[in-house]
Amino acid sequence: MVRLVLLLVLSAGVGFSQEEKPVAGMPASTVLVASDRRAAMTLDGDWHVMADPYLAGLYSFHGAFDANGYFKDEEGGIGGKLVEYNFAKMPTIHVPGDWNTQKEWLRMYEGALWYERHFSYQPAKGQREFLHIGAANYRAIAAVNGKFVCQHEGGFTSFDCEITDVIRPGDNSVVIEVDDTRLANGVPTLKTDWYNYGGLTRDVSIMAVPAAFIDDFELHLDRATRSKIEGYVHVEGAAAGTAVTVAIPEAGAKANGVTDADGRVAVTLPVKRLTLWSPETPKLYQVTLTAGADTLTDTMGFRTVEVSGDRILLNGKAIFLHGVCIHAEAPYRTGRANNEEDMTTLLGWVKQLGGNFARLAHYPHDEQMERTADRMGVLLWSEVPVYWAEQFDRPEVFEKAKSQMHDNIRRDRDKASVILWSIANETPSTEARTAFLMRSAAYVKEQDPTRLVTAALLVRGEVNAKIIDDPLGQALDVIGFNEYIGWYEGAPERADTMEWKVMYDKPLIVSEFGGGAKAGLHGGDGERWTEEYQAEIYKHQMPMLNRIPHLRGMTPWVLMDFRSPVRQLPGVQDGFNRKGLVSDQGMKKKAFFVLQKAYQDGSVGKAE
Ligand code: GCU
Repeated sequence: MVRLVLLLVLSAGVGFSQEEKPVAGMPASTVLVASDRRAAMTLDGDWHVMADPYLAGLYSFHGAFDANGYFKDEEGGIGGKLVEYNFAKMPTIHVPGDWNTQKEWLRMYEGALWYERHFSYQPAKGQREFLHIGAANYRAIAAVNGKFVCQHEGGFTSFDCEITDVIRPGDNSVVIEVDDTRLANGVPTLKTDWYNYGGLTRDVSIMAVPAAFIDDFELHLDRATRSKIEGYVHVEGAAAGTAVTVAIPEAGAKANGVTDADGRVAVTLPVKRLTLWSPETPKLYQVTLTAGADTLTDTMGFRTVEVSGDRILLNGKAIFLHGVCIHAEAPYRTGRANNEEDMTTLLGWVKQLGGNFARLAHYPHDEQMERTADRMGVLLWSEVPVYWAEQFDRPEVFEKAKSQMHDNIRRDRDKASVILWSIANETPSTEARTAFLMRSAAYVKEQDPTRLVTAALLVRGEVNAKIIDDPLGQALDVIGFNEYIGWYEGAPERADTMEWKVMYDKPLIVSEFGGGAKAGLHGGDGERWTEEYQAEIYKHQMPMLNRIPHLRGMTPWVLMDFRSPVRQLPGVQDGFNRKGLVSDQGMKKKAFFVLQKAYQDGSVGKAE
């Protein structure tokens, strides 16, 4: 029997101009905080899929594009139509997982892919149900039992769609259209130096919560005294006056309150005995929040991070961040990293380097990365993919970046490991870009005043000097900057005489440096692409970094080789960016040990 999927009327525009308008009248998604701490029914596993490059599943056959490139069907709207699918006979791929590394016929596919599966469910009376999607790169439209439940744009932030009114006892179907077409006005935009892995790349599940439930909370250690934990709890659907408690028994801390008319209550918990979270002592506490019939238990570390002059203070003490950049590439199997084993392997290599820090490039990673960093004691730089030449003068681009910053901060601001929110990477210093990012910095500070705002900047060059004077620096707490002396700029020895002129009295992090090497390729120190050449770059970088004023952290590019369509050198890159200290198959290159020695013998980096 041909299974027909009735798709609802959509009012989105799609067209050659790669614009799309916010889709009117569609339910918005939300982000349920600490959703990974709630009981959930997983929808991970095999889903039927169908590639749909012409969007036939969304629009009528006879539609056309109007003058603005918007797709209109014959009635002039965007009509969902009966379309002919037979999901049951379609191939399957695994969720979570990008589609590119699962099927040869999807390896270079870029476009819309329809996912479908069935699940059996027994709704409990008085409960509300949410469909949780850990990430769908790049845009998603979800339907349950043929009813549209939400849409989302942003390939790396999780979202939750309420399905209470459409889920039913017994058999249910869920259909999710994921479209990873790169957009000129997307975030990121059309060009990046990473693989555009499409699909449901992280866990998918269904959560049931009480009619009034805790959908958001924020708790942090007071910076000034470190003697109390402050924050708020929000209870979705709660009447004013709903009793809320927050308890951290092991810290002898507790607070009670009642919700206001908006379902929110501020809390302050004096703490009698608290082991501060740090890389050396990544102490996590059970934090139990109750509100009416809802109980949510999270595991949290408590610490403070701040800037004092040109120093970064963790728990009031100056710290140097010995780190490395990490892409969300799965060790060994490649494709998107999306399970605890991937994260433990990657952060395990950071620890083996003697590192205490990682820059999660260039987009929010799977939440399991932050959970693992909380547990292992690795400080994190978290970033949204405002990358290279975005269309900074277009209002919708800022709205998209803002939405991703909002969702990223909301998901991770209760994770002790995250200390820096990065708003951009290597963006051209134009008036429009600086205005855009000044707004971004202000927005992040307003969303989370307990952490530091940063960005990875380009630096200006003179014959034998580098100058850090980007106007955006005035809006950042910590200034990140990328340099490739010895790789894109001259020989490794150039670092020996390079001067650095820094126009800000703020902490700096060199957020990228390094060079490429194919693991196992050996030759003379002067032979590019050999492990020896890459190691030479690192050897000459270390003394130079010690000469940079206000340097308080470093994250060389990059921990592990990763797939990128712009890296096609046959026999060397073969579709991978080879600047990894470790190959995608886990082979440590010579440069790994150069950096490890510098981190372990303390010869690079001064905390003050
Ligand atoms: C840039 C960019 C990275 C890129 C790297 C490289 O600085 O930020 O995303 O992969 O350089 O050229 O390898």
